[in-house]
Amino acid sequence: MSKILLQIDAKEVEAKEGMTILEAAQDAGIYIPTLCHHEKLEPYGACRICTVEAESRGQTKLVAACLYPVEQGLVVRTRSEKVDKIRKMILELLLAHAPDSRELQGLAEEYGADKDRFEKEASFCVHCGLCVRYCAEVKKKFAVGFVNRGARREISFDPVIAAKECWNCKECFPLCPTEALQAAYVYTEALISTLPRF
Ligand code: FES
Repeated sequence: MSKILLQIDAKEVEAKEGMTILEAAQDAGIYIPTLCHHEKLEPYGACRICTVEAESRGQTKLVAACLYPVEQGLVVRTRSEKVDKIRKMILELLLAHAPDSRELQGLAEEYGADKDRFEKEASFCVHCGLCVRYCAEVKKKFAVGFVNRGARREISFDPVIAAKECWNCKECFPLCPTEALQAAYVYTEALISTLPRF
């Protein structure tokens, strides 16, 4: 695999072909915030909090670091006025759904995001898909999935699968950046208690 030299925040970084900007940055000890990324999962590109500026052949683009592949001579800026503005806006939108999320609050402080900018639609789920994808891709159990579309989209456990698989797993719990997953599971546990024993 050929080596790729790029620059991230003015630091020369060596990466391998096929790596993403995020992977190259993490290897070089450079922090880029993420919400929907997990090293064991396929890149998803849903939250866009990992947006960075990538300059190549005289053109600068805003790209999702968890998706964008490294290339020879790429110049990446993980913080800039534009990047910070986008992250601030994303956080303000997400905080309207999950105002009590510690993870979001921490990032909001960093980027000066106002948690009250948008009207609250507290669904608690920020649709990062970490629980759904971890259960499907890593555990191969499909106990939790998305239901509904658009603004009504939310996560939901399949009570029959959950009754068999979740009680001694719960590996997805620490992945959730909000309390949505735990709340959905508590609801499912109540449903499970009504199921016939098998
Ligand atoms: Fe890159 Fe979510 S971490 S889009």
